[in-house]
Amino acid sequence: KGCKLVGCGSAVPSIQISNDDLSEIVYTSDEWISVRTGIRNRRILSGKDSLMDLAVVASKKALEMADVDPDDVDLVLLCTSTPEDLFGSAPQIQKALGCKNNPLAYDITAACSGFILGLVSAACHIRGGGFNNVLVIGADALSRYVDWTDRGSCILFGDAAGAVLVQACDGKEDGLFAFDLHSDGEGQRHLKATIKENETDHELGTNGSLLGLLPKGSSYSCIQMNGKEVFRFAVRVVPQSIELALEKAGLTGSNIDWLLLHQANQRIIDAVATRLDIPSERVISNLANYGNTSAASIPLALDEAVRSGKVQAGHTIATAGFGAGLTWGSAIVRW
Ligand code: ACO
Repeated sequence: KGCKLVGCGSAVPSIQISNDDLSEIVYTSDEWISVRTGIRNRRILSGKDSLMDLAVVASKKALEMADVDPDDVDLVLLCTSTPEDLFGSAPQIQKALGCKNNPLAYDITAACSGFILGLVSAACHIRGGGFNNVLVIGADALSRYVDWTDRGSCILFGDAAGAVLVQACDGKEDGLFAFDLHSDGEGQRHLKATIKENETDHELGTNGSLLGLLPKGSSYSCIQMNGKEVFRFAVRVVPQSIELALEKAGLTGSNIDWLLLHQANQRIIDAVATRLDIPSERVISNLANYGNTSAASIPLALDEAVRSGKVQAGHTIATAGFGAGLTWGSAIVRW
């Protein structure tokens, strides 16, 4: 049994923040941000908006393009590190889409590698689990965890959602040629947003009861990042991973129509393309408009490239995600 990508969709919040806007809250400039990252604008969810609403809009567009009824979806995979329910937000998307038959829906947490993991998980569910229509959503609102006083990181991130419908097909039509996935917990110190230590009285009985020892509710710290280390990590592992996946698929860089990387930094994208000898005309990039949207960046860029006619039916795409965890991975797919 094979699987193929048959639809995509995306959605971004309406609030746009430019580099000039950011220079009003931290000591930076449009020139510094553009030259070092390629980013010019990003979209941010307001405090009252729901990321899941964006995910639902993106999902509906993907289903429409695929001409698949929500009732025929039998698995929803939500790749996110910023769910709106600690227990998982995917079932809320399944509910909002009105998928009958209670299809399985669950979250995948792997930061900026999340979408690649979702894609590969969809293929595994289809090939080994008898699923037929798997909705893979990448949605993140990292703006909620950004330290808006840290100019080294707050300039990078934006919010968005993107979705792809992966469908079962005959093995001969298989559209996921190969993949390569990794993680390295040792590198977590370079990029993290860890749980805050709970305030407790620490000693049983200070306030006369066991209640003094119990956690008083939890939250997460803002994103802490060593940008230089993350940059070095990305330009080292991403080309290696894509080369491995290409080798498994029996292909080389010259067989690839498009290179579509997680949109973190234009300098990372350019460095990887150079290493793989892929000319800039075959590189997809939209981070100037949206910044780093974590798990959403690959399906968002794919959706724009498909709808603008750049990526066409039958094109081969080398795609890769990398980020917190640390995690990274790549996949060679046919659109
Ligand atoms: N504006 C002006 N100056 C700045 C800014 C800013 N926004 N940010 C940092 N600087 C200053 C620093 O203070 C430093 O000054 P100094 O030399 O006086 O000490 C100088 O600029 C250089 O700082 P570096 O951190 O060395 O700059 P670098 O060239 O490495 O660029 C950046 C920083 C853009 C963050 C880059 O390292 C990067 O993109 N790294 C990858 C980060 C990334 O992609 N993270 C997300 C991963 S995905 C995920 O899972 C969430």
